[in-house]
Amino acid sequence: MPLLFKRVKDIRNYLQELKCAKGKSIGFVPTMGYLHEGHKELIRRSTLQNDITVVSIYVNPTQFAPSEDYNKYPRDLERDMAICEELNVDAVFAPSDKEMYPEGFGNTEVRVKDLESILEGEFRPTHFRGVLTIVLKLFNVVQPDRAYFGEKDYQQLKIVEKMVKDLLIPVQIIPVETVREPDGLACSSRNVYLSPEERESALSIYRSFLLAQEMFNQGEYKADVIKQEMKRFILSHPHIKKIDYIAITDPFLNPKEFVEVGDRILIALWVGNTRLIDNWKIKKPETQL
Ligand code: PAJ
Repeated sequence: MPLLFKRVKDIRNYLQELKCAKGKSIGFVPTMGYLHEGHKELIRRSTLQNDITVVSIYVNPTQFAPSEDYNKYPRDLERDMAICEELNVDAVFAPSDKEMYPEGFGNTEVRVKDLESILEGEFRPTHFRGVLTIVLKLFNVVQPDRAYFGEKDYQQLKIVEKMVKDLLIPVQIIPVETVREPDGLACSSRNVYLSPEERESALSIYRSFLLAQEMFNQGEYKADVIKQEMKRFILSHPHIKKIDYIAITDPFLNPKEFVEVGDRILIALWVGNTRLIDNWKIKKPETQL
């Protein structure tokens, strides 16, 4: 079993010794738990590239708005520990709220102002400051050499990269491609909320990316035309309550009028009462899948 730490001071002591006295490299995978194949891929990458792998499991309250699913977010530490054992994780950090936000916490926040209010930020205005604040705190606890983030949460990845660059944080951010179920649905802890019928409709997200890629392959480069077609396709499925946005941007999240290889399609939508996000990198026609 990996060592389980709940206190900042205990994991710091453990890592200090490994890092300073023994010169070990530290890989870090921050998560909110309920681990799935996407998380597992991040962990595998970390164990390949580092001497020691630390996984954090913490459902961070400050990145959820009051109306969101903080209370019902799935949690199962025992199951997560077993997965971490299988993958040879060395240490799991699973702190309490009191440990991360002790009494007297001054509401200090980290913000990347030019990226926090677009796309996800339009619908979840306080989300990214919660994410960045906890990610920086976790970095300060673990002080990793490398930290692993999934492209599934593409805007989160870009914002974390920006914070690291802007604040000169000595960590290398390693992006990991989105892991999908065999039928194309992106792995997510929130997929457990979906009924079988909703899950079927959620597949329209992945299929709309294939549709967009196919349009691009056939020479359609106008972002508006592609987005319109994706929207029409997705909304033809039952249970799709609302599309929050479909955006086409360059790799740095700047909107595009004409699509090129390497651009990103980002989408957020509601299937029943579940909000899902996903994104797709536009590929060269011959390397489509
Ligand atoms: P969580 O949603 O648990 O995701 C943890 C990490 O796993 C993130 O970097 C996320 O992008 C990655 N991930 C999730 N699904 C993935 C998939 N299908 N393929 C590849 N990677 C995937 O993201 C968070 O937690 C939190 O915001 C956190 C960064 C831990 C801060 O609280």
